[in-house]
Amino acid sequence: MPFPGLPADFLWGVASAAYQVEGAVDEEGRAPSVWDTFCAEPGKIRDGDTGAIATDHYHRYREDIALLRDLGVGAYRFSVSWSRVLPEGRPNPRGLDFYDRLVDELVQAGIAPAVTLFHWDTPQTVEDAGGWLNRDTTERFAEYAAVVADRLKDRVRLWMPLNEPVVVTMFGYALGHHAPGRSLGFGALPVVHHLLLGHGRAVQALRAAGATGIGIANNHGPVWPASTAEQDTTAAQTYDTLVNHLFADPVLRGAYPAPELAAAMPGPVVEDLKVISEPLDFYGINYYQPTLVGESTSDTVEVEGAMLPPGLPFAPRPITGYPVTDFGWPVVPDGLRETIATFVARYGDALPPIYITESGCSYHDPDPVDGRVPDPQRIAYHDEHLRSLAQARAAGADVRGYFAWSATDNFEWAAGYRERFGLIHVDYATQRRTPKDSYHWYKQVVS
Ligand code: NOJ
Repeated sequence: MPFPGLPADFLWGVASAAYQVEGAVDEEGRAPSVWDTFCAEPGKIRDGDTGAIATDHYHRYREDIALLRDLGVGAYRFSVSWSRVLPEGRPNPRGLDFYDRLVDELVQAGIAPAVTLFHWDTPQTVEDAGGWLNRDTTERFAEYAAVVADRLKDRVRLWMPLNEPVVVTMFGYALGHHAPGRSLGFGALPVVHHLLLGHGRAVQALRAAGATGIGIANNHGPVWPASTAEQDTTAAQTYDTLVNHLFADPVLRGAYPAPELAAAMPGPVVEDLKVISEPLDFYGINYYQPTLVGESTSDTVEVEGAMLPPGLPFAPRPITGYPVTDFGWPVVPDGLRETIATFVARYGDALPPIYITESGCSYHDPDPVDGRVPDPQRIAYHDEHLRSLAQARAAGADVRGYFAWSATDNFEWAAGYRERFGLIHVDYATQRRTPKDSYHWYKQVVS
């Protein structure tokens, strides 16, 4: 049964990330990443959870891929762990072998591998040398990209050097509720430049190695002003610039969205922007929710679990009038259409084909009973977001695929294991996998 409005060659996928699923953190030569360090600090992660075991995907990937084969998806997006492949800066053959086996297993199952190179897990040694505040990290990252490309390029269909640089910058370096836990405020701006330069250098390294299908997975969503009052619309524009344009304009236009931002960046910015804007084969959008933004307030405000200091020139506010997931995120399917439409309008011919590289929702699903996990709200979520995507296509946007976040339940960063985004339920005590009703529904959709 094809999904209404989506073509027969539409790429259907599911996504995951290394630290959220692999476990096996000290096996076969892997060195610690910033997330191992951060999770070990008391009070950082809800319920004291860590990714040390996660869904044990490192040992159970064959079982997981068998479930994906049965699901019938055309692609699996996963991330490579930099600290498994290049612990202490030197290639680790056993780490590379793991991804080689994983990729082979996918290909044998008829599933195209889609590889993210950096899904937030900077090697601790790289962080100790300054992490993304240090320009050298961009070179280390390009070296890592070359090593992975050299091994996997013949079988990987899509490459994403970065996942959601905005989250690394904001939550990791500006606000500190993600690893590496720095609270630098606007002092984190150099991180943006180095992440983007790392992306550009990795794109060059991938191309030099002969890889094809190169893009990015960037988090985007509409920013709505809290009212039509000028203070609110100005605040919303500022926020939109910082969370959306700052991460897309350099990549797609070769420019920072404001002269003050360009001036805040370290290094030879004009030359760097040429590298950052290396042409891409696709642009990946991760969509979850819009943000409502009002004028500055003297109160502390919360964004996705992080506390913003008072006195900023904008203040995100709770969105009312929409259902919310069990994670408290508003469900706004039309925000996906709006995000895509905004991209088409802003970037025009500079925009390559789009893939929705993530969308999904956390509900606190019941434990399986007789092999079933009913999750009607997750089915509704994906169904409505796919309809919204189809509307964007009908309006002319070239959107070629959708990756549901996530394949299995997994480690939801600072929120730990309580949040469940998977189409497949994981019982963490036994590591037993149970396909949820949404898995069976998605199977019908992708077939
Ligand atoms: C986007 C991130 O890429 C992913 O790691 C995370 O689990 C989902 N958002 C849900 O928060």
